[in-house]
Amino acid sequence: MKVNSTPYRTIWETSDGAVEIIDQTRLPHEFLTLRLENMRDAERAIREMRVRGAPLIGVTAAYGVALSMSHHASDAALKASCDLLVKARPTAVNLRWAVERMRSLLSPLPEGERAAVAWNEASCIADEDVEFNESIGRHGLEIIKGIHRRKNATVNILTHCNAGWLATVDWGTALAPVYAAFDACIPLHVWVDETRPRNQGASLTAWELSQHGVPHTVIVDNAGGHLMQQALVDMVIVGADRVTTKGDVCNKIGTYLKALAAADNGVPFYVAMPSPTLDVNLQDGVAEITIEERSQDEVSYMTGLCDDGQIRRMRITPLGSSALNHAFDVTPARLVTGLITELGLVDADARAIREHFILERK
Ligand code: MRU
Repeated sequence: MKVNSTPYRTIWETSDGAVEIIDQTRLPHEFLTLRLENMRDAERAIREMRVRGAPLIGVTAAYGVALSMSHHASDAALKASCDLLVKARPTAVNLRWAVERMRSLLSPLPEGERAAVAWNEASCIADEDVEFNESIGRHGLEIIKGIHRRKNATVNILTHCNAGWLATVDWGTALAPVYAAFDACIPLHVWVDETRPRNQGASLTAWELSQHGVPHTVIVDNAGGHLMQQALVDMVIVGADRVTTKGDVCNKIGTYLKALAAADNGVPFYVAMPSPTLDVNLQDGVAEITIEERSQDEVSYMTGLCDDGQIRRMRITPLGSSALNHAFDVTPARLVTGLITELGLVDADARAIREHFILERK
């Protein structure tokens, strides 16, 4: 996608054996890139959310393994890197998927071959992510086209958090259909949930939609239900950090409430999911998924651009009040209209998921 008319991916290799990323903690007010020289830089970038979004976390970890192999390619170094990277954030399964793909490819190889193979594989994982998302865009476009045909007016799409190109290598998952429909000249408008506490919607989704020229409006997290009652939302599309084999969807905290409101108002609720986001080991999302608990400070403080042009952090809760910060929630499969995947639209149920993905992988 383009930033001020220049094409960018969110992560790329440099000519001198390092990796560069867009530092997402600085957006929307500053566009800065950050150089990752070694595996620890990659692990820190994921942990500090300089890169975030399930697919991008996975790709960054794969490059982290490659960076590590360039310095030390021993069995011990491979194990230590993979073990550290996999723990950088707990909820997005793409992280474990990418690290285990690297580990199982590299482990049987002689040390001397590991670095070159690791760089090649990390680059394949990045390219695959772009292909999957383009494909999700094409399949999601058909759904948006259908709504536009029936309605014959602007299609209003609500999204939560940031599942756009910043959350992936390019295109995004939930926003790929939006970009495809916008580029196909379908009139559309996006309701952007601000997504407290870190405001990925207000800061990242709004920024990338602006860069592409897509009409959008930022709303507070509690507004979605009201807008659905007023018939101002035609569909919801969100991303996912982990989808279980029976179709339960783990995504940014607040997704579940949007799904409940959508069900109550007859609004279709779609989840964009590339296949690496499926966790073949889990069935019951509520019971089995580890939900990341982040610092209270993310709830108690906000950071923003002040009228004097300075970026400042300020406390918004009383000093004595504690805060709770669960970063994700689980939307049960029964509330999901469909999974928009690179293979097409798949029902969020055990049979359809098994047929499309699990039998396919064997
Ligand atoms: O905590 P974050 O910003 O990494 O959370 C991101 C999300 O919840 C996204 O919706 C999800 O990772 C899908 S990204 C294509």
